[in-house]
Amino acid sequence: MFKKDLLGLKDMTAEEITGILDHAVGMKEAFVGGRQLSSLSGKCVTTLFYENSTRTKNSFETAARMLGARTMSVSAATSSVQKGESLIDTGKTLDALRTDAIVIRHSMAGAPHLLAANVKACVVNAGDGMNEHPTQSLLDLFTMREKFGTIKGLRVVLVGDVRHSRVARSNLWALEKLGAETVVVGPCTLIPKGIEDLGCEVSYDIEDALIGANVVMGLRIQRERQKAGLFPSLAEYSAEFGINADRLYGICENALVMHPGPVNRGVELSGEVADCANSAINEQVTNGVAVRMAVMDILVGGRG
Ligand code: CP
Repeated sequence: MFKKDLLGLKDMTAEEITGILDHAVGMKEAFVGGRQLSSLSGKCVTTLFYENSTRTKNSFETAARMLGARTMSVSAATSSVQKGESLIDTGKTLDALRTDAIVIRHSMAGAPHLLAANVKACVVNAGDGMNEHPTQSLLDLFTMREKFGTIKGLRVVLVGDVRHSRVARSNLWALEKLGAETVVVGPCTLIPKGIEDLGCEVSYDIEDALIGANVVMGLRIQRERQKAGLFPSLAEYSAEFGINADRLYGICENALVMHPGPVNRGVELSGEVADCANSAINEQVTNGVAVRMAVMDILVGGRG
């Protein structure tokens, strides 16, 4: 269906994306029903993470085991990367250990592409710098489609640190292909110039942007990637752009609340909104396992 690797959604077609979402439906039934599958029996999936992760790393490892694969885990902090080993040499080492897939997270945009060009294993991008986080977007799309039945025609509002967000980029590429209306809103310092080329509307007024929203997605304020001075303080950011109960219930009370996590409570979302009946945050995590099972079944199991 698609090639050896899954590196981003920018270059995938709507049909390829929809094919993964369709395949993930059965995978979710197996996962929530506790039904172990065996399509990756005898295969090995390796997570190679150069940045921290709770959701993505454990989700991929759970998904691989649900399909019957064995897993290896390489963390840059405790591996020979600390002794100066290059990304390509690390990849060739994992090839020699007979891994079938490498799931990589790296702070440099393009690192998964470099790895994919130099290893036999399938490579899956689990987040590269500020570029893409394709499986996060796939799980977001799956969650929206489960709730609304379709992506086409939805008004999806992405709020906050768009500049540093690979989640926003993957979602903007994919939502445009699938026919959603997208809006990005945040302080002008966190909205990159030219983002409208990805097909979205740009707003600097959250109360205006939320009108008619079907989905409100908070984006994490990425303090680790920011230079100082992009907004005055977290308290002022929250007052201007935080998704709180007044804004949600007053403007778009039926909107689905999403966030890729980890959430900075009281900054991007109030605690009340994060835990409200419309919040899909925990369902997104469950759906992440389903879409990653689908991706690995297609790539490694050859089910495409
Ligand atoms: N959403 C996401 O990528 O979370 P982690 O950083 O915990 O993997």
